[in-house]
Amino acid sequence: MYTITLIPGDGIGPEVTDAACKVINATGVNVQWERFEDVGFRGIEKFGHPLPDDVLSSIRKNRIALKGPVTTPVGEGFRSINVSLRQKLDLYVNLRPCKLLPGLLTPFTGVDLVIFRENTEGLYSGIESYDERLEIADSIARITRKGSRRILRYAFEWVLANQRKRLTAVHKANVLKLSTGLFLEEALATAAEYPDVRFDQFIVDNMAMQLVIKPEQFDCIVTTNLFGDILSDLCAGLVGGLGMVPGANIGDDIAVFEAVHGSAPDIAGTSKANPTALIRSAALLLHHIGETEASVQIEQAVTRAYEEGTSLTPDVGGTASTGEMTDEIVHLITDMSN
Ligand code: NAI
Ligand code: MG
Repeated sequence: MYTITLIPGDGIGPEVTDAACKVINATGVNVQWERFEDVGFRGIEKFGHPLPDDVLSSIRKNRIALKGPVTTPVGEGFRSINVSLRQKLDLYVNLRPCKLLPGLLTPFTGVDLVIFRENTEGLYSGIESYDERLEIADSIARITRKGSRRILRYAFEWVLANQRKRLTAVHKANVLKLSTGLFLEEALATAAEYPDVRFDQFIVDNMAMQLVIKPEQFDCIVTTNLFGDILSDLCAGLVGGLGMVPGANIGDDIAVFEAVHGSAPDIAGTSKANPTALIRSAALLLHHIGETEASVQIEQAVTRAYEEGTSLTPDVGGTASTGEMTDEIVHLITDMSN
C-alpha cells in the first residue's frame, strides 16, 4: 500500500485526475490518496493562501504526488502555484516525453522526443519588479551554475540509462550571452564527461523551426525553464496536442507527476477533456515507485485504445467523453490481467 498526495486541481483537473486514479486502481496497485482540493483560487477562498502548508507537508512526507492542473490568474493575482511547488520542493527536472501513438492523424511519423526542462530558475525565478515612476518592468532570468549542472547531469544520465540516441541542448547564447551562455558552457562541459552520448546544441528559434519541419531528427532535448515550457507545448502539438503529453517534476527525493497541459477553462465541465496526458503521468509515477509492470500495462492499454480508435475524445478526432475513454482504458487493463 502506497500513500500518495493527490491534488485534483481545477478546470479539467478533477475530471482527468479522477481518470488517472481509476486507471491506477485497475492495475491492482494499492494506493491510499491524501487528497487536497483547496489549492489555487480555492485555497485563497478557504485559507487565504493558494498553496496551504499542509499540502507541502503531505508531499514532503509521502515524497510522491499526482497533480491536476491549477489555474493561475494572468497578469495579476497570486503567483503560479505550479512554479512555487517546483521551487519550494526543489523539483529541478521537468521530464516531458512526447511520443506519437498509433492511429493519430498527424503530419509526422516516428516522433519520440523527451524534453528535460530546467524547472526552478531562469525567467521563472520569480525575481520581478515594477518601477512606478519610470514605468519599467523587470523580470530577471537568473541561471546558476549549480542549477544548470544538475539538470544537465540528470539528462545525460537518463539518456545513457535509457539507451537513447542523442541529446540536444537548446539555448539563446548568441543574445543572452551571460544567462543562457552559462547554461551552454555547462552543457559543453558536461558533454565532455559523457563521450558515449551523441551531443549537439541548437539556438532556440532555429530549434522551433526544425521541430515543426522534421521532428523525427531529434531525440532528447535539455533546456532552460522558459524555452522548455514553450518547446514542450510545441512538441505536444507534434504528437496530437496537449491532451497527449505527460510530465514529471523530479527532485533528489520528491517527485510530482502532472500533465503538460493546463486547466483548459474552455472545455472544463463539458466531459471533453482527454485523460491520456494524466493517465500517462500516472504510468510515469508507477514506473518511478518501482511498479514497472503496472506502468507498462497502462502504456499498453493507452496504445491499444488509440489503435482501436473507437473511444477517443474530440481533441484527437473521436466522440467519446472523458469518462467513456477512461472506462475503455480500464477495460483494456482488466482484459490484460485476465
Ligand atoms: P491549457 O493547456 O489549459 O489549454 C490550451 C488548449 O489546449 C485549450 O484549447 C485546451 O482546451 C486544450 N487542452 C488542454 N488540455 C487538454 C486536454 N486534456 N484535452 C483536450 N484539450 C486540452 O493552457 P491555457 O489555456 O494557456 O491555460 C489555462 C490555465 O491553466 C492558466 O490559468 C494556466 O496558468 C494554467 N496552467 C496550469 C498548468 C499546471 O497546473 N501545471 C500548466 C499550464 C497552464
Ligand atoms: Mg506550460
